[in-house]
Amino acid sequence: MDIPVFTYSSLPSTNDTALELYEQGQTPPFIVLAVRQTRGRGRGAHTWFSPEGGLWFSVALGPVPAEHLSGLGLWTAYVTVKTLRGLTDLPILLKLPNDIVLYGKKLGGILIEIRRNCAIAGIGLNTNVSTFPAPLSETAISLLQVLGNRITHESIYPGIAMRLWEFVHSPPSHQTWLPNVNAWLFGKGQRVAVTCSNRRVQGVLKGVTPDFHMVLTGTEGEQALSLAFLRDFEIVNGE
Ligand code: BTN
Repeated sequence: MDIPVFTYSSLPSTNDTALELYEQGQTPPFIVLAVRQTRGRGRGAHTWFSPEGGLWFSVALGPVPAEHLSGLGLWTAYVTVKTLRGLTDLPILLKLPNDIVLYGKKLGGILIEIRRNCAIAGIGLNTNVSTFPAPLSETAISLLQVLGNRITHESIYPGIAMRLWEFVHSPPSHQTWLPNVNAWLFGKGQRVAVTCSNRRVQGVLKGVTPDFHMVLTGTEGEQALSLAFLRDFEIVNGE
């Protein structure tokens, strides 16, 4: 099965157009892809720098059973990291809750939204972006900057979209993928500080559990924090 793709040269945000097409009667799954976004959105109140060269797309998944929703963000990050590692051999890591990082800099991000009962997974990857404006240049990285050559977007997004569609209807057992999530976890074994449900917590990152919590150990023992409420993840080694 091929998932239909709607491609645009420019959009405000692929997530918004995916919702509009859904409301107009387009049946999920489908992909919305834009060569550039003029009002790309990140998590929280962040904007998302989306020039020509990057891969900006959204997968409309329709209504998702509640019991499959909690893992969707982590699964999206996992399949994205797996796809990019398979194509590049680079040490790409998953930064909780669902960022994609390379050499400590942001390579991509994921914005999952449930709007009008339709789950939309928005994925932004700095693939063939040649430069970033300051101050973004200090925290962002692209595959082009590291590899020196352009990567084909068709080798990335159709496979990811298909794996998201499979997940929302029959998620694979966590034993088949959580070990890889834990192997590719940014900051694992290091002291991290996170904000979770408006609480600032510090501890050593142990890993992710099958019920999608991150485990930190610290002076108060072991704490499991829900990935759904996680914000502001940072490494605080040396403090
Ligand atoms: C983040 O890390 O804050 C999430 C970034 C998500 C960006 C993607 S690009 C495609 C889709 N459309 C958007 O407006 N945002 C997401």
